[in-house]
Amino acid sequence: MTYAYLNGSFLPLENAQVSVMDRGFLFGDGVYEVIPVYGKRLFRLAHHLKRLQNSLDGVRIYNPLADDEWENILTELIKRNSGSDQAIYLQVTRGVAARRDHAFPEDTSPTVFAMSTPVPASVDIASVAGIRAITLEDNRWKHCNIKAITLLPNVLLRQEAVDAGTAEAILIKDGFAIEGAASNIFIVSNGVIITPPNSPALLPGITRDLILELAANNSIPYREADISLDELLSAGEIWLTSSTREISPVIMVDDITVGEGTPGPAWERMIGLYQEYKEALRKGKAG
Ligand code: PDD
Repeated sequence: MTYAYLNGSFLPLENAQVSVMDRGFLFGDGVYEVIPVYGKRLFRLAHHLKRLQNSLDGVRIYNPLADDEWENILTELIKRNSGSDQAIYLQVTRGVAARRDHAFPEDTSPTVFAMSTPVPASVDIASVAGIRAITLEDNRWKHCNIKAITLLPNVLLRQEAVDAGTAEAILIKDGFAIEGAASNIFIVSNGVIITPPNSPALLPGITRDLILELAANNSIPYREADISLDELLSAGEIWLTSSTREISPVIMVDDITVGEGTPGPAWERMIGLYQEYKEALRKGKAG
């Protein structure tokens, strides 16, 4: 049975219910996080809680829980669910209002929901074939650094990618690659790992930040810089990264083959370091 947390209680997921008057349901008025769990341990919890706070601040919802309360709830949720590796989804909405009105209701407390689902254990690196992606125009709003549950553009963009027989949409804005519909983007050009700098145009990915940290700690050259469409299409390697996808090598964009059309050597090095980090977390030696 899958257990969820809703407003102070743990309960079977199928019994977790919210009012149709919840602002999340009526307006998409809320924010969320996805946190990987390896060996029953939370991956980079402090970073996820900091980003959650930034998202809440960005939409003026108060955080109903202190960091240690979040940690206790999520730890209990992991314990109650099966699987050593899991993915936690949590969301906070502005709460239930007496009537539908765009402006904030008064005296409403946020709705807090979390669930956790098992994910398969580690990938076999040698068997990763890489994914295909297409480029699409980034038609989202101007606050993509906020992890809002209002995901209609991302949903439509991802579906367009899937309809085209690919796994992800790479979003292009003013001639530059920004990120994926639900992932951050990296290219490798002349041995240098490049990803766009954080800005309101993209989500500050926790996976992204760890990759930059691993590059710095292992003397792998990297740069935070804008990536033009030309640079994207001529890159030796392209990666799309997220909590659920980890680091996915892209082998074809639109109809153009990336590098040799197979996952590249820089990816192999980085996914190795990433797996080592996960192993350290499983043993309680990383956060
Ligand atoms: N999405 N950019 C966007 C637009 C995203 O939705 C995500 C993750 C990322 C990567 O962030 P992180 O490395 O912290 O997962 C970048 C999650 C997984 C989701 O919506 O399910």
